[in-house]
Amino acid sequence: MKKTLITTLLIFTTILLVYPNASRSMDLHNWTDNEKAVLRSLWIESLPPLPDDPSNRYSGDPKAASFGKKLFFDNRLSGNLKVSCATCHPANMNFADNLPLAHGMGTMTRRTMPLIGTAYYTWLFWDGRKDSLWAQALGPIESPVEHGFTRTQAASIILKYYRPDYEAVFGPLPVLIKKDLPPSAKPSMNEPAALKAWISLPVEKRDAVTRIYANMGKAIAAFVRTIVPDKARFDDYVEAVMKDDPSGMMKALTNEEVRGLRLFIGKAGCTNCHIGPLFTNGEFHNIGVPQPSSLPPDNGRSDAIAMVLADEFNCMSVYSDAERADCAELRFIDTATYKYIGAFKTPTLRNVAVRPPYMHAGQIPTLRKVLEFYRDLKPGQRSADLEHGDLNDLELQQIEAFLRTLNSPLKFVQ
Ligand code: HEC
Ligand code: HEC
Repeated sequence: MKKTLITTLLIFTTILLVYPNASRSMDLHNWTDNEKAVLRSLWIESLPPLPDDPSNRYSGDPKAASFGKKLFFDNRLSGNLKVSCATCHPANMNFADNLPLAHGMGTMTRRTMPLIGTAYYTWLFWDGRKDSLWAQALGPIESPVEHGFTRTQAASIILKYYRPDYEAVFGPLPVLIKKDLPPSAKPSMNEPAALKAWISLPVEKRDAVTRIYANMGKAIAAFVRTIVPDKARFDDYVEAVMKDDPSGMMKALTNEEVRGLRLFIGKAGCTNCHIGPLFTNGEFHNIGVPQPSSLPPDNGRSDAIAMVLADEFNCMSVYSDAERADCAELRFIDTATYKYIGAFKTPTLRNVAVRPPYMHAGQIPTLRKVLEFYRDLKPGQRSADLEHGDLNDLELQQIEAFLRTLNSPLKFVQ
């Protein structure tokens, strides 16, 4: 008798305690068709195949990529023989570093960007002052605070160490002798001595050196484009949603993480900008991150529009392999600079938890503080696309938990 009573009580308690929870947790995993469409769009499986870069006809060439990979890790391509792309973009850290401001031959005024899924961007850098990965790669090499190298030195390295790699992809190297390659020559307006050495070279030598230089960029780009994120726990969750598999959903994410996801795509309005499988629209926004007082003002995108139009390696340049028609983004670029003062590219949130600090100059040390930054922007200070309502502490914690489900290993695809 006693036993039956206890059993009945136990069953009752179970129904009371567990069932309401179970039903609430089912609600949590119950998505409307609209929400499902958003989840699908954020899913890694929605990432299209690597796009072609018409301005770089070698971009899909595996031989170019393996040559580019060697160049990426080669610190002979620097003024002090110590800096390579991998100095700031180390492979074991999402191809980014953990410094607020990048450091090569000198210290830069911006934070290193991770190299994840960069093939999908129309515009490169925080301000988008380059319109292809190969044009981008040519910036750091000649920058005095990065590789601190020159164009003629770079060509000399290719002639000396990389003749077979280069010729297998790009055909015969031009004939250049020592006097064609004065070490400190580059077309840099900020370095008068280097500029003078550069313009004293005959035009055809300058062109030959620059062709080698542009091809180096094309090889490096063929490598960099292959780096993409692999599946994260979030993607397992979406897969389960697509298959209508509640146990798969519960296995992939905790309730707290799912609540964070609901906020992220709902009330917090994060998907106004952090959309698509890379969690970025690739566009430029001024979200009001204060510029550190130790640095000069940074106009971001606003200043970069003229730079990309004038870039000697842009889509319409003589070194590009594209037809004019392929360069629509550049030709029809929005030149209303006033709209972009202090605007920076929306960063990917894939693997965001493993690479603090955050923002274009590493202004914010932790993910929690990024979320507090968003919360503390008062409606009057917010740009129009920032539509998060009032977020409380618990909600910030849930969004943070969700962001941590975007961690994944990287993979290399052709
Ligand atoms: C001294 C550190 C440093 C070195 C060396 C360096 N980078 Fe970077 N990289 C950065 C910083 C900082 C940014 C952002 C700069 C900006 O926005 O002005 C960046 C941005 C990029 C981006 C843009 C990513 C995006 O999402 O727009 C790519 C691609 C890239 N680097 C590739 C390279 C390659 C290839 C090399 C070697 C040729 C290289 N970097 C060398 C620090 C470095
Ligand atoms: C209006 C577009 C927009 C919206 C909406 C938006 N972001 Fe951002 N987000 C950005 C931009 C732009 C940056 C970089 C700003 C900078 O460096 O000055 C950024 C930076 C970040 C970073 C730092 C990443 C890094 O690598 O530095 C995180 C994390 C982040 N956002 C998360 C969120 C979350 C969570 C939400 C929703 C509460 C959100 N964002 C809403 C545009 C947006």
